[in-house]
Amino acid sequence: MIRIRELGGRILGREGSGIADLAQSQIPNPKSLVISGASSGIGLALARHYLKCGAVVAAFARRGDLLQKLAAEFPGKVYCYTLDVRDAPAIQAAATDFMSHVGVPDIVIANAGVSRGTLTEYAEDEEVFQNIMDINVLGMVKTFQPFHAAMREAKQGTLVGIASVAGFRGLPGSGAYSASKAAAMSYLESLRVELHGSGVKVVTICPGYIKTPMTDINTYPMPFILEADEAARRMARAIERGASFSVVPWQMGLTGWLLKRLPNWIYDPVFSKAPHKSRDHQ
Ligand SMILES: NC(=O)c1ccc[n+]([C@@H]2O[C@H](COP(=O)([O-])OP(=O)(O)OC[C@H]3O[C@@H](n4cnc5c(N)ncnc54)[C@H](OP(=O)(O)O)[C@@H]3O)[C@@H](O)[C@H]2O)c1
Repeated sequence: MIRIRELGGRILGREGSGIADLAQSQIPNPKSLVISGASSGIGLALARHYLKCGAVVAAFARRGDLLQKLAAEFPGKVYCYTLDVRDAPAIQAAATDFMSHVGVPDIVIANAGVSRGTLTEYAEDEEVFQNIMDINVLGMVKTFQPFHAAMREAKQGTLVGIASVAGFRGLPGSGAYSASKAAAMSYLESLRVELHGSGVKVVTICPGYIKTPMTDINTYPMPFILEADEAARRMARAIERGASFSVVPWQMGLTGWLLKRLPNWIYDPVFSKAPHKSRDHQ
Protein backbone atom coordinates (compact mmCIF):
# COMPACT_ATOMS: atom_id res chain seq x y z
CA MET A 1 0.00 0.00 0.00
CA ILE A 2 2.80 2.38 0.94
CA ARG A 3 4.53 1.69 -2.35
CA ILE A 4 1.32 2.44 -4.27
CA ARG A 5 0.85 5.62 -2.24
CA GLU A 6 4.43 6.62 -3.08
CA LEU A 7 3.88 5.84 -6.76
CA GLY A 8 0.78 7.99 -6.60
CA GLY A 9 2.80 10.75 -4.96
CA ARG A 10 5.72 10.68 -7.38
CA ILE A 11 3.80 10.30 -10.60
CA LEU A 12 0.50 11.97 -9.93
CA GLY A 13 1.39 14.77 -7.60
CA ARG A 14 -0.72 12.96 -5.00
CA GLU A 15 -2.14 15.35 -2.50
CA GLY A 16 0.77 17.68 -2.80
CA SER A 17 3.93 15.64 -3.13
CA GLY A 18 4.64 15.11 -6.84
CA ILE A 19 8.04 15.41 -8.50
CA ALA A 20 7.27 18.91 -9.79
CA ASP A 21 6.49 19.95 -6.22
CA LEU A 22 10.02 19.38 -4.97
CA ALA A 23 11.17 22.60 -6.59
CA GLN A 24 8.58 24.59 -4.70
CA SER A 25 8.81 25.76 -1.12
CA GLN A 26 6.27 25.47 1.70
CA ILE A 27 3.60 28.15 2.08
CA PRO A 28 3.23 29.33 5.68
CA ASN A 29 -0.20 29.64 7.32
CA PRO A 30 -2.18 32.04 5.13
CA LYS A 31 -3.63 35.15 6.76
CA SER A 32 -6.01 36.15 3.99
CA LEU A 33 -7.72 34.31 1.15
CA VAL A 34 -10.23 34.80 -1.63
CA ILE A 35 -12.46 31.81 -2.33
CA SER A 36 -15.00 31.68 -5.15
CA GLY A 37 -17.96 29.36 -4.77
CA ALA A 38 -17.80 29.71 -0.98
CA SER A 39 -21.55 29.32 -0.50
CA SER A 40 -21.58 25.53 -0.73
CA GLY A 41 -19.65 22.26 -0.97
CA ILE A 42 -15.87 22.35 -1.36
CA GLY A 43 -15.62 26.15 -1.36
CA LEU A 44 -17.60 26.44 1.86
CA ALA A 45 -15.52 23.67 3.48
CA LEU A 46 -12.27 25.40 2.40
CA ALA A 47 -13.54 28.73 3.75
CA ARG A 48 -14.44 27.15 7.10
CA HIS A 49 -11.08 25.36 7.26
CA TYR A 50 -9.08 28.56 6.78
CA LEU A 51 -11.39 30.64 9.01
CA LYS A 52 -10.90 28.11 11.82
CA CYS A 53 -7.13 28.58 11.31
CA GLY A 54 -7.63 32.32 11.94
CA ALA A 55 -7.54 33.65 8.36
CA VAL A 56 -9.70 36.40 6.88
CA VAL A 57 -11.70 35.25 3.85
CA ALA A 58 -13.27 37.06 0.90
CA ALA A 59 -16.19 34.82 -0.09
CA PHE A 60 -17.57 34.99 -3.65
CA ALA A 61 -20.84 33.40 -4.78
CA ARG A 62 -24.26 34.31 -6.21
CA ARG A 63 -26.23 33.20 -3.13
CA GLY A 64 -25.49 36.05 -0.75
CA ASP A 65 -27.74 34.64 1.99
CA LEU A 66 -25.46 31.61 2.30
CA LEU A 67 -22.38 33.83 2.43
CA GLN A 68 -24.02 35.88 5.21
CA LYS A 69 -24.64 32.65 7.12
CA LEU A 70 -20.94 31.86 6.92
CA ALA A 71 -20.09 35.41 8.01
CA ALA A 72 -22.36 35.06 11.06
CA GLU A 73 -20.42 31.92 12.07
CA PHE A 74 -17.09 33.84 11.99
CA PRO A 75 -17.86 37.44 12.98
CA GLY A 76 -15.50 40.04 11.52
CA LYS A 77 -13.58 37.45 9.49
CA VAL A 78 -15.62 37.11 6.29
CA TYR A 79 -15.99 39.69 3.52
CA CYS A 80 -19.08 38.67 1.53
CA TYR A 81 -19.26 39.51 -2.16
CA THR A 82 -22.45 38.41 -3.86
CA LEU A 83 -21.37 38.08 -7.46
CA ASP A 84 -21.30 35.90 -10.54
CA VAL A 85 -17.82 34.79 -11.62
CA ARG A 86 -18.82 35.57 -15.22
CA ASP A 87 -19.01 39.24 -14.23
CA ALA A 88 -15.45 40.62 -14.48
CA PRO A 89 -16.25 44.20 -13.33
CA ALA A 90 -18.00 42.82 -10.21
CA ILE A 91 -14.94 40.72 -9.36
CA GLN A 92 -12.66 43.68 -10.02
CA ALA A 93 -14.73 45.82 -7.62
CA ALA A 94 -14.72 43.09 -4.97
CA ALA A 95 -10.95 42.65 -5.31
CA THR A 96 -10.33 46.38 -4.99
CA ASP A 97 -12.55 46.56 -1.90
CA PHE A 98 -10.99 43.51 -0.24
CA MET A 99 -7.41 44.63 -0.93
CA SER A 100 -8.18 48.13 0.40
CA HIS A 101 -9.13 46.55 3.74
CA VAL A 102 -6.84 43.53 4.00
CA GLY A 103 -4.04 43.98 1.45
CA VAL A 104 -2.93 41.49 -1.18
CA PRO A 105 -4.36 38.07 -0.31
CA ASP A 106 -2.01 35.19 0.36
CA ILE A 107 -4.16 32.75 -1.61
CA VAL A 108 -6.89 33.06 -4.26
CA ILE A 109 -8.88 29.87 -4.83
CA ALA A 110 -10.94 29.76 -8.04
CA ASN A 111 -13.34 27.02 -7.01
CA ALA A 112 -16.75 28.12 -8.37
CA GLY A 113 -18.06 25.61 -10.85
CA VAL A 114 -21.08 23.90 -12.29
CA SER A 115 -21.64 20.42 -13.65
CA ARG A 116 -24.47 19.19 -15.82
CA GLY A 117 -24.93 16.35 -18.26
CA THR A 118 -24.79 17.53 -21.88
CA LEU A 119 -25.30 15.85 -25.23
CA THR A 120 -24.31 17.36 -28.58
CA GLU A 121 -27.44 15.98 -30.27
CA TYR A 122 -29.68 18.39 -28.32
CA ALA A 123 -29.64 21.98 -29.64
CA GLU A 124 -30.84 23.26 -26.26
CA ASP A 125 -27.66 21.91 -24.63
CA GLU A 126 -25.59 24.47 -26.56
CA GLU A 127 -26.44 27.13 -24.00
CA VAL A 128 -25.49 24.74 -21.18
CA PHE A 129 -22.13 24.10 -22.91
CA GLN A 130 -21.61 27.86 -23.05
CA ASN A 131 -22.47 28.38 -19.37
CA ILE A 132 -20.23 25.56 -18.18
CA MET A 133 -17.27 26.91 -20.15
CA ASP A 134 -17.98 30.49 -19.05
CA ILE A 135 -18.17 29.59 -15.36
CA ASN A 136 -15.61 26.79 -15.06
CA VAL A 137 -12.91 28.23 -17.35
CA LEU A 138 -13.39 31.95 -17.93
CA GLY A 139 -14.72 32.38 -14.38
CA MET A 140 -11.36 31.10 -13.16
CA VAL A 141 -9.45 33.56 -15.34
CA LYS A 142 -11.71 36.43 -14.20
CA THR A 143 -11.24 35.46 -10.54
CA PHE A 144 -7.43 35.49 -10.77
CA GLN A 145 -7.09 38.52 -13.03
CA PRO A 146 -7.57 41.37 -10.50
CA PHE A 147 -5.07 39.80 -8.07
CA HIS A 148 -2.40 38.82 -10.61
CA ALA A 149 -0.55 42.13 -10.88
CA ALA A 150 -0.69 42.82 -7.12
CA MET A 151 0.69 39.36 -6.30
CA ARG A 152 3.42 39.75 -8.92
CA GLU A 153 4.42 43.07 -7.50
CA ALA A 154 4.46 41.61 -3.97
CA LYS A 155 6.48 38.67 -5.38
CA GLN A 156 4.32 36.29 -3.37
CA GLY A 157 0.95 34.61 -3.23
CA THR A 158 -0.70 31.48 -4.52
CA LEU A 159 -3.36 31.08 -7.20
CA VAL A 160 -5.27 27.81 -6.77
CA GLY A 161 -7.57 26.40 -9.44
CA ILE A 162 -10.07 23.64 -8.71
CA ALA A 163 -10.18 21.42 -11.81
CA SER A 164 -11.36 17.79 -11.78
CA VAL A 165 -10.38 14.21 -12.50
CA ALA A 166 -13.22 14.46 -15.06
CA GLY A 167 -10.80 16.51 -17.17
CA PHE A 168 -8.33 13.61 -17.53
CA ARG A 169 -10.45 11.90 -20.23
CA GLY A 170 -13.62 12.82 -22.09
CA LEU A 171 -16.48 11.32 -20.08
CA PRO A 172 -19.61 10.34 -22.03
CA GLY A 173 -22.62 12.51 -21.27
CA SER A 174 -20.37 15.14 -19.67
CA GLY A 175 -18.75 16.62 -22.77
CA ALA A 176 -19.01 20.21 -21.53
CA TYR A 177 -17.84 19.46 -18.00
CA SER A 178 -14.90 17.25 -19.07
CA ALA A 179 -13.86 19.81 -21.70
CA SER A 180 -14.10 22.67 -19.18
CA LYS A 181 -11.94 20.87 -16.63
CA ALA A 182 -9.35 19.80 -19.24
CA ALA A 183 -9.24 23.44 -20.38
CA ALA A 184 -8.89 24.60 -16.76
CA MET A 185 -5.93 22.26 -16.24
CA SER A 186 -4.15 23.49 -19.38
CA TYR A 187 -4.85 27.12 -18.50
CA LEU A 188 -3.49 26.62 -14.96
CA GLU A 189 -0.35 25.01 -16.35
CA SER A 190 0.21 27.93 -18.73
CA LEU A 191 -0.25 30.34 -15.84
CA ARG A 192 2.14 28.37 -13.63
CA VAL A 193 4.88 28.48 -16.24
CA GLU A 194 4.22 32.17 -16.96
CA LEU A 195 4.69 32.90 -13.25
CA HIS A 196 7.72 30.66 -12.79
CA GLY A 197 10.38 32.48 -10.81
CA SER A 198 8.05 35.40 -9.96
CA GLY A 199 7.38 34.28 -6.38
CA VAL A 200 3.73 33.63 -7.23
CA LYS A 201 2.73 29.95 -7.18
CA VAL A 202 -0.02 28.22 -9.10
CA VAL A 203 -1.61 25.10 -7.67
CA THR A 204 -3.91 22.83 -9.68
CA ILE A 205 -6.20 20.67 -7.57
CA CYS A 206 -8.20 17.89 -9.16
CA PRO A 207 -10.87 16.50 -6.85
CA GLY A 208 -12.19 13.00 -7.43
CA TYR A 209 -15.64 12.48 -5.91
CA ILE A 210 -16.42 14.79 -2.98
CA LYS A 211 -19.73 14.74 -1.12
CA THR A 212 -21.38 18.07 -2.01
CA PRO A 213 -24.68 19.24 -3.54
CA MET A 214 -22.99 18.75 -6.95
CA THR A 215 -22.59 15.01 -6.41
CA ASP A 216 -25.66 14.48 -4.19
CA ILE A 217 -27.79 14.11 -7.35
CA ASN A 218 -25.61 11.34 -8.82
CA THR A 219 -27.26 7.94 -8.70
CA TYR A 220 -24.21 5.94 -9.84
CA PRO A 221 -21.40 4.60 -7.61
CA MET A 222 -18.74 7.19 -6.71
CA PRO A 223 -15.53 5.37 -5.69
CA PHE A 224 -13.32 6.82 -2.94
CA ILE A 225 -15.85 9.58 -2.20
CA LEU A 226 -14.71 11.98 0.55
CA GLU A 227 -16.63 14.27 2.90
CA ALA A 228 -16.13 17.93 1.92
CA ASP A 229 -14.41 18.81 5.22
CA GLU A 230 -11.86 16.05 4.82
CA ALA A 231 -11.32 17.01 1.18
CA ALA A 232 -10.77 20.65 2.20
CA ARG A 233 -8.24 19.58 4.82
CA ARG A 234 -6.29 17.56 2.25
CA MET A 235 -6.47 20.35 -0.33
CA ALA A 236 -5.19 22.86 2.22
CA ARG A 237 -2.30 20.52 2.99
CA ALA A 238 -1.43 20.30 -0.72
CA ILE A 239 -1.55 24.11 -0.99
CA GLU A 240 0.56 24.48 2.13
CA ARG A 241 3.19 22.16 0.69
CA GLY A 242 3.30 24.26 -2.46
CA ALA A 243 2.17 21.39 -4.67
CA SER A 244 1.96 22.30 -8.33
CA PHE A 245 -0.60 19.57 -9.05
CA SER A 246 -2.61 17.46 -6.66
CA VAL A 247 -5.39 14.90 -6.91
CA VAL A 248 -7.69 14.47 -3.89
CA PRO A 249 -8.08 11.70 -2.85
CA TRP A 250 -4.85 10.15 -4.10
CA GLN A 251 -6.64 6.92 -5.06
CA MET A 252 -8.52 8.84 -7.74
CA GLY A 253 -5.18 10.21 -8.90
CA LEU A 254 -3.94 6.72 -9.47
CA THR A 255 -7.19 5.79 -11.23
CA GLY A 256 -6.96 8.90 -13.40
CA TRP A 257 -3.32 8.23 -14.22
CA LEU A 258 -4.17 4.71 -15.37
CA LEU A 259 -7.23 5.96 -17.30
CA LYS A 260 -5.11 8.51 -19.14
CA ARG A 261 -2.84 5.75 -20.35
CA LEU A 262 -5.63 3.41 -21.42
CA PRO A 263 -5.62 3.04 -25.22
CA ASN A 264 -8.79 4.24 -26.99
CA TRP A 265 -9.58 0.72 -28.20
CA ILE A 266 -10.08 -0.27 -24.55
CA TYR A 267 -11.35 3.07 -23.17
CA ASP A 268 -14.08 3.58 -25.80
CA PRO A 269 -16.03 0.32 -25.46
CA VAL A 270 -15.68 0.23 -21.65
CA PHE A 271 -16.70 3.87 -21.06
CA SER A 272 -19.50 3.85 -23.64
CA LYS A 273 -21.37 1.83 -21.00
CA ALA A 274 -20.51 4.22 -18.14
CA PRO A 275 -23.45 5.99 -16.41
CA HIS A 276 -24.18 9.48 -17.71
CA LYS A 277 -24.69 12.58 -15.57
CA SER A 278 -28.31 13.72 -15.63
CA ARG A 279 -29.14 16.51 -18.14
CA ASP A 280 -31.98 17.72 -15.89
CA HIS A 281 -29.99 19.04 -12.95
CA GLN A 282 -27.66 22.00 -12.41
N1 LIG B 1 -17.94 17.51 -5.75
C1 LIG B 1 -17.11 16.83 -6.52
O1 LIG B 1 -17.08 15.59 -6.49
C2 LIG B 1 -16.18 17.56 -7.44
C3 LIG B 1 -15.27 16.79 -8.18
C4 LIG B 1 -14.38 17.42 -9.03
C5 LIG B 1 -14.38 18.80 -9.13
N2 LIG B 1 -15.27 19.53 -8.41
C6 LIG B 1 -15.22 20.99 -8.58
O2 LIG B 1 -15.18 21.60 -7.30
C7 LIG B 1 -15.77 22.89 -7.39
C8 LIG B 1 -16.81 23.03 -6.29
O3 LIG B 1 -17.85 22.09 -6.53
P1 LIG B 1 -18.78 21.51 -5.38
O4 LIG B 1 -18.79 20.07 -5.50
O5 LIG B 1 -18.43 22.13 -4.10
O6 LIG B 1 -20.19 22.02 -5.91
P2 LIG B 1 -21.34 22.88 -5.24
O7 LIG B 1 -21.59 22.47 -3.86
O8 LIG B 1 -22.43 22.88 -6.24
O9 LIG B 1 -20.68 24.34 -5.18
C9 LIG B 1 -20.46 25.10 -6.33
C10 LIG B 1 -20.09 26.50 -5.88
O10 LIG B 1 -19.81 27.28 -7.05
C11 LIG B 1 -20.57 28.48 -6.97
N3 LIG B 1 -20.92 28.95 -8.30
C12 LIG B 1 -21.45 28.24 -9.32
N4 LIG B 1 -21.67 29.04 -10.36
C13 LIG B 1 -21.25 30.28 -10.00
C14 LIG B 1 -21.21 31.52 -10.65
N5 LIG B 1 -21.65 31.68 -11.90
N6 LIG B 1 -20.73 32.59 -9.98
C15 LIG B 1 -20.29 32.47 -8.70
N7 LIG B 1 -20.30 31.31 -8.02
C16 LIG B 1 -20.77 30.23 -8.68
C17 LIG B 1 -21.81 28.11 -6.18
O11 LIG B 1 -22.35 29.28 -5.55
P3 LIG B 1 -23.71 30.00 -5.97
O12 LIG B 1 -24.61 28.98 -6.57
O13 LIG B 1 -24.20 30.58 -4.66
O14 LIG B 1 -23.27 31.05 -6.92
C18 LIG B 1 -21.25 27.18 -5.14
O15 LIG B 1 -20.73 27.89 -4.05
C19 LIG B 1 -16.35 23.01 -8.79
O16 LIG B 1 -15.44 23.69 -9.62
C20 LIG B 1 -16.45 21.57 -9.24
O17 LIG B 1 -16.42 21.43 -10.64
C21 LIG B 1 -16.17 18.95 -7.59
